[in-house]
Amino acid sequence: MLYKYTIDGIYKVKGINNISGEVSVSGSKNASLPLMVASLLTDEPVILHNIPNLLDVQVLIKILEDLGKVIKFENNTLIIENGNNENCEASYKLVKKMRGSIMVLGPLIAKRKYCKVSYPGGCAFGPRPIDLHLMGLEKLGASIRLEEGYIKAYSNKLVGSKIDLSGKYGSTVLGTDNILMASTLAKGETIIKNAAFEPECDNLANMLIKMGAKIEGVGTNTLKINGVESLKGVEYSVIPDRIEAGTYIALALATKANIKIKNVEISHLHSVINVSKSIGAKIEIKENMILVDASKNNLKPFKIETLPYPNFPTDLQSIFTAVACTINGRSYIKESVFPDRFTHISELNRMRANVNLNKNTIVIDGGKCLSGADVQASDLRAGASLIVAASASRGISNIHRIYHIERGYENIEDKLRSLNVNITKKEDDIL
Ligand code: EPU
Repeated sequence: MLYKYTIDGIYKVKGINNISGEVSVSGSKNASLPLMVASLLTDEPVILHNIPNLLDVQVLIKILEDLGKVIKFENNTLIIENGNNENCEASYKLVKKMRGSIMVLGPLIAKRKYCKVSYPGGCAFGPRPIDLHLMGLEKLGASIRLEEGYIKAYSNKLVGSKIDLSGKYGSTVLGTDNILMASTLAKGETIIKNAAFEPECDNLANMLIKMGAKIEGVGTNTLKINGVESLKGVEYSVIPDRIEAGTYIALALATKANIKIKNVEISHLHSVINVSKSIGAKIEIKENMILVDASKNNLKPFKIETLPYPNFPTDLQSIFTAVACTINGRSYIKESVFPDRFTHISELNRMRANVNLNKNTIVIDGGKCLSGADVQASDLRAGASLIVAASASRGISNIHRIYHIERGYENIEDKLRSLNVNITKKEDDIL
């Protein structure tokens, strides 16, 4: 009997090119997803600009279409209109492809009174519980049952409540989005304490306000929401992707390059800029552009800790681990958001890096020239760290399982080529 194989791609990266040039950052993946989901809260059209064309966006389009929305996506503009709202189920087949789809839970209960959403599984960096999402929705009055791998939730009318979203590892970004969206249509006042205030959460809150929601405290860790009867349609733009911008900064640091990064929101990047300056890179800022020059000074090893915004983001932890591999001396990166986000370490060590884990602190003894190797991406950001390392390595690296990378970086090959990275894509033979 023949097995059915899925063909994935490989990036072939030839390292130590002269990295230079300019690159433009796309709209933020992690901001786009909640804005798309918020369309479930209204019967009117939602038009979203600057949406990156990515695998995760395509999966969410499919989920929203299954839930009855009619969607057009062209030139980074997404038009979401109402179709048939009868289906309230997000299937395992789609939810398993993207954990972010758990966000449909709040809007569906609030607007359609019932939903059945596949329980998301773990991922490459640990179990990733959703207890805070469920606790918040129950506090708003939803009845929730877990059956046959699905979350079934009902409520005739959600009622405002006081909800504390602090967990063992800080607040929750998607949990805040979920509860915030649900509470916009709940009766009365909701107070969310220890809300996440990542720029992606603020982007959502500001769009909800434009749709007619009553929300106070945007940009802080306490949100006060006064429920309204209905929300209107909206036309809105997604913020630039701060993690994509941080990835190009890291590429410049690792390859000792001088590059220009356009279309960035500087205020979202302070922690990354400060770390890069403290390492010894020259950073110049011009409106929405960053010029990174890591070509002149010898860069210094560094110590950072990942924490919720405005601190250094966990999504750049693996990528800065690759940077540390290229800097002489010992660097330390403590991961304090996800207790188990370390699968990049073994792959970097295949490239002759010297990276070890001490509890949740990554210890990197850097400076030895990395060597190209066959490696595989285990998740999106781990994959990006391998591209950065491969670009700074002697020889050729083949990065396997690149669908992870394509989930979150729009036109990554073309953009890297515009920075003179020697990258090509080929099909991966599974056998
Ligand atoms: N947590 C709980 N209970 C919950 C929810 C979260 O204990 O109910 C824990 C998590 O296990 C973790 C911590 O709280 O230890 C923070 O997780 P959070 O819920 O904030 O993560 P998320 O909302 O699921 C989003 C991004 C991630 C990013 C994190 C942290 C999207 C689609 N995902 O995930 O992005 O790492 O916030 O900033 O926005 C990525 O882009 O590669 C990515 C993984």
